[in-house]
Amino acid sequence: METYKDRMPRLASIQIEKPFIELEEITNKYLVGDCLEILKKTKKDTFDLIVTSPPYADSRKDSYGGIHPDKYVEWFLPRSKEFLRVLKPTGTFILNIKEKVVNGERHIYVIDLIKELKKQGWLWTEEYMWHKKNTHPGKWPNRFRDSWERCLQFNKNKKFNMYQEEVKVPMGDWAKSRLKNLNDNDKKRITSAVGSGFGKRVSNWVGKDKVYPTNVLHLATECGNKSHSAVFPVDLPEWFIKLFTKEGDFILDPFAGSGTTAVASLRQKRNYLMIDIVENYKKEAEKRLINETN
Ligand SMILES: C[S@@+](CC[C@H](N)C(=O)[O-])C[C@H]1O[C@@H](n2cnc3c(N)ncnc32)[C@H](O)[C@@H]1O
Repeated sequence: METYKDRMPRLASIQIEKPFIELEEITNKYLVGDCLEILKKTKKDTFDLIVTSPPYADSRKDSYGGIHPDKYVEWFLPRSKEFLRVLKPTGTFILNIKEKVVNGERHIYVIDLIKELKKQGWLWTEEYMWHKKNTHPGKWPNRFRDSWERCLQFNKNKKFNMYQEEVKVPMGDWAKSRLKNLNDNDKKRITSAVGSGFGKRVSNWVGKDKVYPTNVLHLATECGNKSHSAVFPVDLPEWFIKLFTKEGDFILDPFAGSGTTAVASLRQKRNYLMIDIVENYKKEAEKRLINETN
């Protein structure tokens, strides 16, 4: 079976000759090639949000190749250097990633990567957890089924665009009982009883039907056949798109695969640039853009 590595020389030879690519050449486009080469030719401060799920360390060798866990950071850093350059100062970079198990223990390449990204100039602002609601039951000798992935948030600056109102969630049932009979403490700001140092005023939430969400996203994995083995659900990039961008903003997914981030961008009336090194995924993305955005 032909692997992504077999196709690489041919794809890598697709070159854009000019030193810089114009905005109209990358707006709402799916470009085939190494994101490193394409982004080198993209002007700085172009994108409002980068949201992506990179190839996982060695785990999917047969479909689009993998990078050995020990080499992962070394492979990633030249690419993240370009991400840093092309992201606007007010922008955000969301990296969906999870360390794999090697020889019976979790490899630490994600931890090493976070440390190196900080040295590269990124601020590690937050970590969201994607809880995969629908993982299959299973039995492993020394661990339970893996049901979550990291969505690491990096920024160039402490002040970045964030539209928190856009991702508010329904208050939920706890409010009915908790807010019905407020005690004296609920009416004033109190310090947490567990000594965490955080204060709260419960009565602030009376009469509200929506609250800010937590940093855990409860989303099912993608089950439909998208001709790609590692598709994330549209709701995942879409949630970050709503939180960090507004209509007309520009989103980059440098490891675009079946184009999930493009589908989410179009649904939210944002512009996008998708890049992937495997030519076949572009066709799948084009199909999805027609079928899933109307
Ligand atoms: C985890 S998948 C992304 C899947 C995508 N989020 C989706 O929902 O379809 C990672 C993708 O990175 C691509 N890839 C690997 N190396 C690349 C490179 N150097 N430049 C661009 N894309 C690359 C692979 O072909 C693969 O499609």
